[in-house]
Amino acid sequence: MKKSSVYACTMIELSKHHRPQGNISVVENNKDVPFEVKRAYYLYDVPGGESRGGHAHKALSQLIIAVSGSFSVTLDDGKVKRTFMLNRPYQALYVVPGIWRTLDDFSSGSVCLVLASEKYDAEDYIRDYEDYLNYKNL
Ligand code: TYD
Repeated sequence: MKKSSVYACTMIELSKHHRPQGNISVVENNKDVPFEVKRAYYLYDVPGGESRGGHAHKALSQLIIAVSGSFSVTLDDGKVKRTFMLNRPYQALYVVPGIWRTLDDFSSGSVCLVLASEKYDAEDYIRDYEDYLNYKNL
């Protein structure tokens, strides 16, 4: 997705079932997600001050959720940057393919859940920012 824009990336409000005994939020294919989930992974025990991401994906769509704690996600399409603070387990950031992303400011004990549209493929990554700008024809 060479032409994708950060404005195609949005916060999605997930369903939530609040009860005095605890809460549940749900992500269901073809209902809450704009793609079919094929993989889930999560980041945890991220040391204070550490930064994750720092890459783009050519074909992968993702939903990023702060299931515990908080962190910030900066999205960059080579022209425009947008930073989202994720700190609610019932909100998901939808990231379209072709967007450079960086995750920072992890609170202690935070957990970042990622739901992905494809299985792991190292070839789908662009890890160098100059390569990314070339990929976007910028
Ligand atoms: P990576 O996506 O590079 O994490 P980050 O950009 O947040 O630092 O993944 C880190 C390592 O984990 C990488 O060497 C490959 C491995 N990995 C898998 O084997 N499968 C996966 O689904 C993911 C997301 C990562």
